[in-house]
Amino acid sequence: MALMSGDGVMFLVRWIHFLAGITWIGLLYYFNLVQTPFVGETQPAERGALVSKLVPRALWWFRWGAMFTFLSGWLIILDRMGRGGFFAGSYGWAILLGGLLGSIMWANVWFVIWPKQKIVIQNALDTGAGKPANPAAAPAGARAGLASRTNTLFSIPMLFFMGAASHLTLRVPRSGATFWIVALIIMAAVEINALAGKPGTATTKMLATVKGTLWAGFILAAVFYLWFEVMR
Ligand code: HEM
Repeated sequence: MALMSGDGVMFLVRWIHFLAGITWIGLLYYFNLVQTPFVGETQPAERGALVSKLVPRALWWFRWGAMFTFLSGWLIILDRMGRGGFFAGSYGWAILLGGLLGSIMWANVWFVIWPKQKIVIQNALDTGAGKPANPAAAPAGARAGLASRTNTLFSIPMLFFMGAASHLTLRVPRSGATFWIVALIIMAAVEINALAGKPGTATTKMLATVKGTLWAGFILAAVFYLWFEVMR
């Protein structure tokens, strides 16, 4: 029984990782590529059932998908680290870069998008029941939207390096410290824009459109790939 071995159990963890990952990222793309542009073309009065009935259901699968992807992903990393030689080939470097991007995305889901969306959903329920609107709902929605667009951006290099780990041999960087410091600075700059970027600046404007977000994602994937090449 192949599944009863240690490798079999880790394979089940990998299976959970793939299932949870597609659930999460599938909904992320639905929100960003379909729902947000749709909402932009509707009137506030038309959005009641969407925000109060559809979005909460979608967000449940979204945030638990993120949680299971994150937990299963780190379990696989810890298992691989425990076997030794993690940083010997490019696997460890690529999976850690992809995993760190995924972990920032997970934090955005649980600590920005979900708390802000709760305010937006409550406001839709309140106004639907004839109560006054909450002035904090619009800025909360905008911040959640920017964090969600940032996650869409990050998902592009994230999946490149997650797939590259086992299927593309990269050169191991010559200086680990320099490699990670620069990689973390780049990630932090994009994340600071998600957390504190003001509407109307060039970076938030780029993420306001699907096209700009996808471009930013492919550019970031290229930047990280080139960083691997520069550091070899
Ligand atoms: C949240 C942080 C994440 C961490 C820490 C993480 C970690 C990992 C690890 C360690 C592997 C390697 C499995 C192996 O060695 O066979 C892996 C593979 C994979 N991950 Fe993730 N992951 C994360 C997020 C995601 C997300 C959001 C997706 C989206 C679909 C995803 C999709 C995949 C896929 C498709 C593979 C298979 C790659 C292959 O077999 O070549 N991961 N991930």
